[in-house]
Amino acid sequence: MNPVPSRTHVAFAESLRGRAIYVYGAGGHSQVVRDVLEEMGLSVEANVNDYPNREHFAVEKTLPGVRLTGEASFPPLEAPLVLAIGNNAERKELVSMLGEVDWVTAIHPTTTIARTARIGYDTVVLHRAVVQANTVIGNHVLINTAASVDHDNVIEDYVAISPHVTLCGHVRVGEGTFIGAGATVIPNVTIGKWCVVGAGAVVISDIPDGTRAVGVPAQHVPIAGGTAVDAPR
Ligand SMILES: CC(C)(COP(=O)(O)OP(=O)(O)OC[C@H]1O[C@@H](n2cnc3c(N)ncnc32)[C@H](O)[C@@H]1OP(=O)(O)O)[C@@H](O)C(=O)NCCC(=O)NCCS
Repeated sequence: MNPVPSRTHVAFAESLRGRAIYVYGAGGHSQVVRDVLEEMGLSVEANVNDYPNREHFAVEKTLPGVRLTGEASFPPLEAPLVLAIGNNAERKELVSMLGEVDWVTAIHPTTTIARTARIGYDTVVLHRAVVQANTVIGNHVLINTAASVDHDNVIEDYVAISPHVTLCGHVRVGEGTFIGAGATVIPNVTIGKWCVVGAGAVVISDIPDGTRAVGVPAQHVPIAGGTAVDAPR
């Protein structure tokens, strides 16, 4: 994690003004990310689709108004790029494959981000999300629609926070962890790396690395293989 100092969507947008941005991914989530970029007043050059063995990309090549560029025409290294891939492990794999990239941070104008919060690169913060004071959000993170990330949180790289999640104060979320829609985490809880927290869970105590936690209050069990490699749906 090496997040940049707090900047609002305006500052992020200013730093990218006039540059053609590429979006990596071509599924439904990529359309959400395009919308964020366009609402920031930025221009999307194309969606990139060259991830090997992702068959569903092939059938989604007809997105209306979206130019897809394949492996042969991958954008030049200097092109600003944002990942629009929902799966945390796949984002991590792509980052190591792609090497040095001019990463874009996409923050929708309706978000509320405290001046003392810090947000990493290639992180996407969607509509009406709130990030409160002193919170640090890592790189390649997704903060989904209307999620509430309160003060003094630490959200490590490759995390995904689903819509309407509530993280109270002083919560820590480890690398690669997925938190399902509407889950609530009470103050001072640490959730480990590569965990899955089910939709609607209420987490009232620490969750160890590589576990799956569901229910109210959340009960956790180890994930087979120790890592949440599959995208939870
Ligand atoms: C937790 C989750 C990832 C599924 O995990 P899984 O290991 O595949 O779980 P299964 O579907 O096999 O269910 C296993 C058990 O957990 C229970 N369970 C699954 N999800 C649950 C949840 N969110 N809350 C409570 N119990 C849940 C099932 O009922 C089942 O119980 P049983 O063994 O008594 O029959 C999934 O249910 C979930 O909550 N996904 C979140 C999706 C989401 O929020 N997406 C947002 C995208 S923007």
